[in-house]
Amino acid sequence: MKKIGVAVIGTGAVSAIHVQSYLGTEDCELRVLCDKDVRKAERLRESMGLAGVDIVENTADVFAREDIDAVSICLPPALHSSVAVAALRAGKHVLVEKPMASSLEECDAMLEAAKESGKLLAVVANQRFDTPAMRVKRMLDEHTGGKTLYATINSIWWRGGNYYDLAWRGTWEKECGGCLTSHAVHHIDMTAWTLGMPRRITAFLGNLAHDNSECEDYAIAVFEYPDMIAQLTANILTHGGDGEQGLVFQTEKGSLSIPWRTVSNKPLPNGFPEEDEEAHALLQSRYDALPEVTVTGHAGEIGNFIRAILGKEELIVTGEQGRNAIELIMAMYKSAATHAPVDLPIAKDDPFYRRESMTKAMPHYHEKYRFVESVENAPPISFGRMSK
Ligand SMILES: NC(=O)c1ccc[n+]([C@@H]2O[C@H](COP(=O)([O-])OP(=O)(O)OC[C@H]3O[C@@H](n4cnc5c(N)ncnc54)[C@H](O)[C@@H]3O)[C@@H](O)[C@H]2O)c1
Repeated sequence: MKKIGVAVIGTGAVSAIHVQSYLGTEDCELRVLCDKDVRKAERLRESMGLAGVDIVENTADVFAREDIDAVSICLPPALHSSVAVAALRAGKHVLVEKPMASSLEECDAMLEAAKESGKLLAVVANQRFDTPAMRVKRMLDEHTGGKTLYATINSIWWRGGNYYDLAWRGTWEKECGGCLTSHAVHHIDMTAWTLGMPRRITAFLGNLAHDNSECEDYAIAVFEYPDMIAQLTANILTHGGDGEQGLVFQTEKGSLSIPWRTVSNKPLPNGFPEEDEEAHALLQSRYDALPEVTVTGHAGEIGNFIRAILGKEELIVTGEQGRNAIELIMAMYKSAATHAPVDLPIAKDDPFYRRESMTKAMPHYHEKYRFVESVENAPPISFGRMSK
């Protein structure tokens, strides 16, 4: 069978996990690395022993190659949409890193290009590719615990002030947001994936400890659904936060948590709780019976991307789902900027639909004053709690 020829565009911090994942996936062959700074691509090629892989400086040179069928876009967020649209129009399948794009307008341009080209558009949501996430999603879909009443989403991380020295980070123009677009987007994606889209959002944002960033370093939000509430806490201020991230769904029969935990209560005669062993056994046995995810994180998602191109599986994280996460983030920005609840969906004539009008409406919590183009000799990056 002909192998799917792959290029990785952008060879910075996240690219190594894409390379490693393609190398570990059957039916594909990594053929090109692309970076405007070719020294970075060369270093990656050397460090990963990729002697036969070509290096190109311009994305147009990737798109012109007939032996490239699919690309991973690992560029700063403000470039995601234009590069994805060009790739799709050149007939390439696209896997784009999170956040999908900087605005809903850009997401829609990508979705349109995918529709016109008939090629796949996938968005990285590596945290979904883990056993607890996939099993709890199935249990929510099946209503194993009955109705979901309340959900708490903790997207808590810790990043130092110098995290924002990298030139594109911490700017409305290039990163298009702070902890919501860079970090919490993982858990926001999982919220929309598990619970669907809320009808209204109220959010409170600010920046308490990252003075080299224009954007938020914390957010607290409430998502209103017709018969349910979800509450999001997102920040990069929590010491040891990577180990405490998660989503907890309170269903009628018990709680379902990612990472996995389940607790069931029933009332004593005075209304205080005691353990409901029967409900607990029901939830635990369903969890145990569901399939295990053996290939996790980026490797799991890239495997699905390649098999979806070959028509062997359904694509798990679609462009439409990537857009949902951006819509939730834009609603939180609008709520914070206007000090008011925001109804969804966000209309095309709303200032929070477009990048320029959104960034103009948002407060600059600080003015950025340190800029480095590249962080040399940096240790490997972390991918959050659910990464191995
Ligand atoms: N899924 C995850 O867990 C995860 C983790 C980290 C980063 N990311 C995402 O990956 C993306 C990249 O982040 P990063 O940390 O690797 O950034 P980075 O700055 O380390 O790397 C970006 C690379 O893109 C190159 N580049 C910039 N403009 C270019 C152009 N026009 N043409 C070719 N190359 C160009 C830069 O030279 C750089 O090497 C971001 O969207 C980020 O949010 C995802």
